[in-house]
Amino acid sequence: MTEAALLVLDAAEARFGFRTTREVVNWSSARYIEHQERVTRQMIEGLRRFDAVLLGAIGHPDAPRGMMERDIIIGLRIGLDLYVNLRPLVLYDERLCPLKGKRAEDIDILVVRENTEDVYVNAGAITGTGKDEVARVEMSFTRPGIERVTRYAFERARARPRKKLTLVDKANAIPVQGLWRTILDEIGAGYPDVERDAMYVDAASMWFVQHPERFDVVLTTNLFGDILTDLGAALVGGLGTGASGNIHPGKVSVFEPIHGSAPKYTGQGVASPVGTMGAVGLMLDHLGERESYTAIEKALREGFRGGYIKGADAGSGRTLDVAKGVAEAVSRGRWA
Ligand SMILES: NC(=O)c1ccc[n+]([C@@H]2O[C@H](COP(=O)([O-])OP(=O)(O)OC[C@H]3O[C@@H](n4cnc5c(N)ncnc54)[C@H](O)[C@@H]3O)[C@@H](O)[C@H]2O)c1
Repeated sequence: MTEAALLVLDAAEARFGFRTTREVVNWSSARYIEHQERVTRQMIEGLRRFDAVLLGAIGHPDAPRGMMERDIIIGLRIGLDLYVNLRPLVLYDERLCPLKGKRAEDIDILVVRENTEDVYVNAGAITGTGKDEVARVEMSFTRPGIERVTRYAFERARARPRKKLTLVDKANAIPVQGLWRTILDEIGAGYPDVERDAMYVDAASMWFVQHPERFDVVLTTNLFGDILTDLGAALVGGLGTGASGNIHPGKVSVFEPIHGSAPKYTGQGVASPVGTMGAVGLMLDHLGERESYTAIEKALREGFRGGYIKGADAGSGRTLDVAKGVAEAVSRGRWA
C-alpha cells in the first residue's frame, strides 16, 4: 500500500519538477519476527540524516502486542522531539460524513496536538494492594513545551483564510492547565490578526459533532488531542481517509496514515491508499512543495466528489487502481 501511495510522489515530482532521493528502512514487525531485533533509540537517531520519513502502518498479529508500535511510534516522537502532531480533518465529500446535513465545506479543521508531554511522558505506577491499590500517573506541561506548540498553531492559523485559533483544554477541572490559557494570551498578543478563543474539552467534543464549522485551527494537549482527533476522523470518513504529521519544524519529521496495518487484508491488494497518499501530501508541504500538497488534496477531493474514488474502506477498490487514478489526476491536474 505504501508503495502504491508513492505513485503520487512520482506524479508530483514529474509535474512540479523536483526530485526526491528515497531509501526504504525496513522496521516491520515481520522483520522482528524473523530476526528478533527491536528498534532502538540509536536507530531512530540515524533518521536525522533524512528530511522526512513516510511511515507505513505498523503491526503484525504474531509480534508481541503493541511492542513495535511503542518502540517506533513513541520512539520517533520522543527521540526526534516531534512536538507537533498535525491532523487535518478535511471532509472530501459529504457522503463520507455521518452527520446529517453537513456539506463538505463545513468541515475543514486543522488540529495541532502537543506530542511530547502530558500523561504519556511517564508510565506511572500502580501501588498498594486490595482497597489500598492506587494507579497514579503525572500530567505535566512545561512552559517551553506549551510555548513552542502554541507558536506553531498561531503560525498555521495566520496562514489560513479564517485565521482563527481555538485552544481546547480542561482548565476548569484541572487548574494547572490554566498555564495553556496564560500562554495563549501571551503569544496571541503577537498575532493580532488571528482570532483566538478557548474551550473546555467536553464542550469542544459536543461542538465537533454539532457545529464543526465553528472550528478552524484547534490547539490542544496530547491526551485530549488523542481522543478529539479520532472523533474528528469519524466526522470526515473514518480511519481510511486520515493522515497525520509528527513534526519538528525545520527538522526531520514523520508522516503517516492514521490507520494501522489492517492485517486481515494482508496480501489482498484491497487496503485503501488514501490515508497514505494524504500523508505524502502533508510530507511535501513540510518539505516546501506547497503546490504538490495542494494538487494531491485536490485530486483526493475531486476523486471522492466525482465518484472516481468509491470510498476508503477495503471493499471500495483495488489499492493499485485507486493509487494510479489519484496519481494520474495529480499529473493532469484533473480526473477526466
Ligand atoms: N500508527 C500505526 O502504525 C498503527 C495505528 C493503529 C494500529 N496499529 C496496529 O495495526 C494492527 C491492527 O490494528 P487495528 O485492527 O486495531 O487497527 P487498523 O487501523 O489496522 O484497522 C481498523 C479497521 O480499519 C480497517 N482499515 C485500516 N486501514 C485500512 C485501509 N488502509 N484500507 C481499508 N481498511 C482499513 C481494518 O481492516 C479494520 O477493520 C495492530 O497491530 C495495531 O497495533 C498501528
